[in-house]
Amino acid sequence: RVPNIVVIGSLNMDIAVEAERSPSMGETIMGKDVHFIPGGKGANQAVAAARLGAHTMMIGTLGSDAFGAELRNSLVESGVDVLGIKTAEGVPTGIASILLAQGDNQIVVVPGANAHCLPEDVYQHEALIAQADVVLLQLEIPLRTVIAAAEVAKRHGRTVILNPGPARDLPEELLKHTDYITPNRSELSLLTGMDTSGEQWKEAAKRLLEMGPRHVITTLGSQGSGYMKSDMHITDVPAYRVPVIDTTGAGDSFNGGLAYALAAGEDLDNAVHFATKVSALAVTKFGAQAGMPSLEKVETFDWSIVQASPC
Ligand code: RIB
Ligand code: NA
Repeated sequence: RVPNIVVIGSLNMDIAVEAERSPSMGETIMGKDVHFIPGGKGANQAVAAARLGAHTMMIGTLGSDAFGAELRNSLVESGVDVLGIKTAEGVPTGIASILLAQGDNQIVVVPGANAHCLPEDVYQHEALIAQADVVLLQLEIPLRTVIAAAEVAKRHGRTVILNPGPARDLPEELLKHTDYITPNRSELSLLTGMDTSGEQWKEAAKRLLEMGPRHVITTLGSQGSGYMKSDMHITDVPAYRVPVIDTTGAGDSFNGGLAYALAAGEDLDNAVHFATKVSALAVTKFGAQAGMPSLEKVETFDWSIVQASPC
C-alpha cells in the first residue's frame, strides 16, 4: 500500500545569493552567484515525501506569474499531486531571499500568494484530507489556515505533523490537534519562552509536550535530534557525518521523511531514524530540494561510512 500524505503549506521561489560574507546594515558588497530554485517549506516537504514514494497531494497557492508556473512544473516533475494548488490572480508568487555566506544562510521570506491560502481551500479538499495517513503542516501560510487544517484532519482521525517554522507563538487549539511537533532549537525556545541552548532544550521539550501535542521531536542540526513521547522520556538520535553542501531545507527533508515513515506505519523510533537519513542525504546537494532522495537511495546508501562517532 502506498502511503498517502497531504501537505498544506507554502511554495516559494528561492533566490539564493552566494557571497563571501553577509553585509552589515547600510553596506553594499559584491556577491558571487545567484540561483533561482524551487523552495518553500510546504513544497520542500511535499517533494521529500513524493520522492520517497508517497502519494503526496499539496494544497497551496501560487501567483499568476512566471515563478508560479515554474514552481508548479517542478512539483509535477517531483511527482507531487498539484490538484490542490490554486493560482491567485494579480498576486506575486512567494519568494525567499536567501543569502549564503560562510557556510550558513540568512533568509527573508515574502509570502505573496501564500498569504492567500485560506481555510476555504482546506474545506474544499476535506474529502482528500479525510483519506490521508498523515497531514503535514508548517507556518508559512496564514495561521488560521493551519488551524483549520489540523482541526479537519483530527475530525477525521488523521495523524497531524506540525513543523512550527518560521518560529511564532501558537494557540492551544492548534497544539492540541497536533500529534507530532518538530521544532528546531530556536522554534522550541520561542514556543516555550525557555532557554534551549546546550542540554536545556530537553526541559523546553517537556514543557512543550505539556502544551498539547502528543509527541515532540526536536531537530538539532549536526547534533541530530531527540524525540519524546507522553512518558516524557527523551531518546537522542545522532546525525550522520556527511559532507554538507547546503543546509537550506534540511528540516524540510527531515519532516518529509518523518511523514513518509509514519504514513507507512513505522513506529516513532524507526521514523525518526529514517528521517535522519533522508536529511543527511538532502544536505549533500545545493538547493532545498535537489538532494532529497528516493527510497532506494536511502536503502542502498552505505550508512556505515558516515556513522556518527560516539562522543
Ligand atoms: O525551509 C527552507 C525554506 O524556507 C526555503 O526553501 C525557503 O523558501 C524558506 O521558505
Ligand atoms: Na540540499
